[in-house]
Amino acid sequence: MKTTARKKNKPSSRVAQRSTKSSVKATKTRQRTKKASPKKEKPDEDKFKELFNDLLKDTLNAEKQLVRALPKMVKAATSKQLASAFKKHLSETEKQVSRLEKVFSVCGFKVVGKKCEAMEGLVKEGEEAIKETTQGSFVRDVALIVAAQKVEHYEMAAYGSLRSIAETLGYSKAVDLLQKTLDEEGAADKALTELSASINAKAAGTTGSKVQASASDQEEEEEEPIEEAVYLDADEEEEGDQRSDRNMGNSL
Ligand SMILES: [Fe+2]
Ligand SMILES: [Fe+2]
Repeated sequence: MKTTARKKNKPSSRVAQRSTKSSVKATKTRQRTKKASPKKEKPDEDKFKELFNDLLKDTLNAEKQLVRALPKMVKAATSKQLASAFKKHLSETEKQVSRLEKVFSVCGFKVVGKKCEAMEGLVKEGEEAIKETTQGSFVRDVALIVAAQKVEHYEMAAYGSLRSIAETLGYSKAVDLLQKTLDEEGAADKALTELSASINAKAAGTTGSKVQASASDQEEEEEEPIEEAVYLDADEEEEGDQRSDRNMGNSL
């Protein structure tokens, strides 16, 4: 019984083998035909749009990395003003993520992120700033401001370029959205520059509000308190214009 069944099955399995062979042959023929035809190049405008889409993906990921990093900076800051500046920018950054997602949709792109290696490096620098400085010191705040301003400048470069590209490609709704974020990044950078004036002075021990100052630091401060204070005021006056120039430069 079993043998008969096997015998009966034999012809049909041969047919199956033949049909598999012929389908493999057909696939090979199709592949040969495919290889033979020259690959159609995408028009330059499509490639440009693809690049724009890629840059948006990179920036979306960068913003999301910052949403995770900023709470650590709020917690690590010594100065209350710096902590609240970071807090304010965290809430702006969360809104920037949603705004950027809107840019994807107004341009007809799928909302997807792509790992931003540059932001990963900048966030690592921020983490190092925390690890390598003493908790409760103003030197830590100086290091945090430097790390944060590097981030803001990176973002300003990214949004400035994205805005210009969107303009060229005719994505007018995206232009407005990208400009809004670019303005926020510029304002955040400017606020940090303004804060850095007093924080740098505190870190240098040239004001009376030092935190965790060592005994020798206090002695040094007591030796020439007036001269140092005078030097700071004069320096601030002399450098006032330069600082505002720098701020203007930062806001570009
Ligand atoms: Fe941002
Ligand atoms: Fe930012």
